[in-house]
Amino acid sequence: KKYKEPFRPQFHFSPEKKWMNDPNGMVYYKGVYHLFYQYFPDDIVWGPMHWGHATSTDLIHWTTKKIALFPDKLGMIFSGSAVVDLHNTSGLGTKENPPMIAIFTYHDMEGEKAGKKNYQTQGLAYSLDNGETWLKYSGNPIIENADQKDFRDPKAFWNTETNRWNLVLVAGDHAQFYTSQNLIDWKFESDFGQNLGAHGGVWECPDIFKLKVAGSNEEKWVLLISINPGAPNGGSGTQYFIGDFDGKNFKTSQKEVKWVDYGADNYAGVTYNNTPNGKRIFVGWMSNWLYARNTPTKNWRSAMTLPRELSLIKTNENYVLKSTPVEQFKKQLVTAYSKDLIAIKANQKISFDYPHLNQSEIRFKAVTKNLKLVFSNETKDSLVIDYEAESKIFSIDRRHSGIVNFEKNFGKEIHKTAMLNNNSETMDYQIILDWSSVEIFLNGGIYTFTEQIFPTTPYTQLRIQSDEEQEIKNFTIRKIKGIWK
Ligand code: FRU
Repeated sequence: KKYKEPFRPQFHFSPEKKWMNDPNGMVYYKGVYHLFYQYFPDDIVWGPMHWGHATSTDLIHWTTKKIALFPDKLGMIFSGSAVVDLHNTSGLGTKENPPMIAIFTYHDMEGEKAGKKNYQTQGLAYSLDNGETWLKYSGNPIIENADQKDFRDPKAFWNTETNRWNLVLVAGDHAQFYTSQNLIDWKFESDFGQNLGAHGGVWECPDIFKLKVAGSNEEKWVLLISINPGAPNGGSGTQYFIGDFDGKNFKTSQKEVKWVDYGADNYAGVTYNNTPNGKRIFVGWMSNWLYARNTPTKNWRSAMTLPRELSLIKTNENYVLKSTPVEQFKKQLVTAYSKDLIAIKANQKISFDYPHLNQSEIRFKAVTKNLKLVFSNETKDSLVIDYEAESKIFSIDRRHSGIVNFEKNFGKEIHKTAMLNNNSETMDYQIILDWSSVEIFLNGGIYTFTEQIFPTTPYTQLRIQSDEEQEIKNFTIRKIKGIWK
C-alpha cells in the first residue's frame, strides 16, 4: 500500500515515488505552502533534474502535484527559489493576477561534457494560475555565466528595506549578491566568503534573511550556506553566518564556523518566502550526499526534515540560530504516557516499552549531567544517544541502529559535537522518531541533530540511564499521527 513501504516516513514529506533531493521554490501564497523539490521521475537515483511539486495548508499534510518544471534545451532544472511578484514588476502577469516567479539554475550537461566551465546559468519560469502550471520565460537565461564553475542555486526575495528584489547565489567557493527592479534584469553587487567559514567542499544552496534577536530590538541577517563535502560529521552539511546586509553587501565579524544542524542528514535547507506573521520557516533535505543514493528504500528515495521555525538568540556575545518544529506539528501529537518526575539513581536503568517508538516524540527535562538513551527492538538494533556533561559532548551512535551496511560511511562512526554554547543547568530533550529518521532538538533547538536510521523492525524499547544521579521531569511519550491517507 501507498506510503506503507518499509522505512516510509509517516509524518515527513517524501515523494510518492522515485528520487528527490533539495527543497526548492518554497513560497506561501493564498493560504498554500508550496514545496518544490529536485526530482528525477524515472529512477530512485539522481538523474536529469525536474522540479517536483507538493502543496500544504499546514506544512504537515501534503498533496502531490504534477511536475512543475521539466528540463529543456538550456539544461536540467537545478535548485532555486520562488517569489510572488505582487506588483507585477516583471510584467509577466497583471496587477489583478500577479505572477508567481521561480528562479532556478539551468545545468547544461552537454556544456559540462564538452569541458566548459560555464555550463550553469540562471533561468526564470512563471505561473499565472497560483502555481498549478509553469511557463518558461522566453528570454532565458536571465543571468548568464562568463566562466564560473558551480554557479547556482539562486534565492530571490523582496527586500522591504531597500524596495528592491535581492538574489543570492553561489559561485564555487563563495556567494554573490544581486539586485533587480523586475526579477528579470539582475545587477551583480558583491562577493562574499572566499576566506570565511568552512570550505571543505563547494558552496551550495544559499539563503539570506533577517531575524530579531530574542529579547531585544536588535536585528541581524542570517546567511545559510550548504557545503559538500566538509560537514562536521562527514559529507554534506549547512553552515551559517550572522551579520549585516544593506541589500548589496553582507558583512560579518564572525570568526568561527557555525552549523544549522549537527547531525549527518540535514542538507540544502532554505526558508520560505512570504510566510504569514513573518515566521522564518526552514526545510532541509534529510540526507547526505555521501550515501543518499544507497539508502535501503525501494520505490522512492529520501524525505524532507520537519519544517522548522528559525529564531536567533545571543548568549555571551555569541549569536546562535535556533530551530524548532513548526507550531502546527503539535496538532499531530497524542500523549501515550507521561510522568512528572523520574528519579534515577547512579547506574540505574529505566526502561519503557512502547510499540510505536518509530512514530513518536519523547520529551523531558533532565539535569545537565551525564545521560544515555538507548532505543532498541527485538532484532537487537540499538540507537544510542549520549550526553557527557564534563566534556559537553553530545553523541549519536547509529552504528548498530539497523541496516547500516549499504554504504561504508553510514554506520562507520559515532557522531559527536561539543555543545559549547550550552550553559544551562537543565537540558530539554525533544526527540522525534519516524520510521527512518531521528530529529533531536536540545534546549529549544539551540542544538539540533538530524539523522537517518533504518531499523530492521521498529524500536519498541527506550532505556534511560546515567552513571550519576539524575532527575527527569515532565517526561512524555507522544504518538505522532500519520499524515498519509
Ligand atoms: C545540492 C545540489 C545543488 C544543485 C542540486 C542538483 O544538493 O547539488 O547545488 O542545484 O543539488 O540536484
